[in-house]
Amino acid sequence: MEEKEPKKIIGLMSGTSCDSIDAGLCEVYPDMSVKLIQGINHPYPEHIRAKIFSAFRGELSIKEICQLNFAVGKCFGDAANILIGEFGKPDLIASHGQTIYHYPYDEKLDNISLKSTMQIGESSVIAAQTGCLVVSNFREKDIAYGGQGAPLVCFADEKWFKNSLVQNIGGISNVTVVSDDCETFGFDTGCGNIMVDYCTQKLFGQKYDKDGEIASKGNVCESWLDCLLQDEYYFLEPPKTTGREYFSVKYIENMLRNAPPEPKDVISTLTALTAKTIAQAYERFVYPKAHVDTAVIGGGGAYNKTMMKFLRQYLPQRIELKTHEDYGISNNYKEVMAFALLGYCNLYNIPSNLPSCTGAFRRVVLGKMTS
Ligand SMILES: Nc1ncnc2c1ncn2[C@@H]1O[C@H](COP(=O)(O)OP(=O)(O)O)[C@@H](O)[C@H]1O
Ligand SMILES: [Mg+2]
Repeated sequence: MEEKEPKKIIGLMSGTSCDSIDAGLCEVYPDMSVKLIQGINHPYPEHIRAKIFSAFRGELSIKEICQLNFAVGKCFGDAANILIGEFGKPDLIASHGQTIYHYPYDEKLDNISLKSTMQIGESSVIAAQTGCLVVSNFREKDIAYGGQGAPLVCFADEKWFKNSLVQNIGGISNVTVVSDDCETFGFDTGCGNIMVDYCTQKLFGQKYDKDGEIASKGNVCESWLDCLLQDEYYFLEPPKTTGREYFSVKYIENMLRNAPPEPKDVISTLTALTAKTIAQAYERFVYPKAHVDTAVIGGGGAYNKTMMKFLRQYLPQRIELKTHEDYGISNNYKEVMAFALLGYCNLYNIPSNLPSCTGAFRRVVLGKMTS
């Protein structure tokens, strides 16, 4: 077997929040540990971001999606080139791309599965712009082998954490359960920041509720919270994943029909919803299987002080609440570090999906390489 060496890999990622392209130059080691050398949050040009949101709403033509794939590739290449300008070329770029559609359902048409996912950001454009080898399209192969193509970060969590609930709060929230009691498993707990972001934009004209300031000033409307908690997604057994196709503008607008009149109470309640759905997901699906007493929070939600306060309130006292920063891993760049690791695995032909997380029927090497 080929002797593995440390590699410099730039991870590129933009999540469902679509808040920025996260780019991180990493050193990936043969023992699967990853060191972040430098990370940047590279903003999308506003008109591209607006197009991506139009895509989420299903408003783009096939022509516009075709164009957007290449335009997003250019933006990802720009983000990588900022790091390359400072540090030189890496051995590899690992690009997650921008998810514009995720359809994890076992639906069939004439016996042909419709399960699918689409990440855009054309890898040939990234490769041409940077002159680097690019690994991209990590999710498709897992789906081809019966999985949901997500969550993929669990593979990294399993390498980096012990006996912990590793909780990401991005646009969507997902947990990885790493425990001595069972095989590592993970799933999307539900909505993360999508609803809070949408309503903060709609009601306050701001992209997000910085530090949870607005939520801290409002009150949780318990009756509306109870109503929001009835959604069937929260009761589904894992493996399960979700996205903007489910927590769509239509979904949120529908929920807002029963919202309290005071705008800050809306933000407080939605912030509480994210925390409560995480706590309930642990009660329903985690505690019966694994004894864990640490939750490690990451993603943008870790910076929302009110969301963290609600989490503390809803989680059992025995659970110690930490953030990735407590482990020397940036809350912002953990996912790019994880994709850098998946890129490394592609390079060395190491399978990197965990069937216990995605539901795939076997482990496979993820990603496609573009030279
Ligand atoms: N300082 C902060 N205060 C409150 N919320 C924040 C803060 N920073 C980031 N966020 C939230 O996190 C989101 C981005 O999180 P991120 O982990 O990048 O998600 P994704 O993976 O979906 O892009 C933002 O849209 C915002 O809701
Ligand atoms: Mg993001």
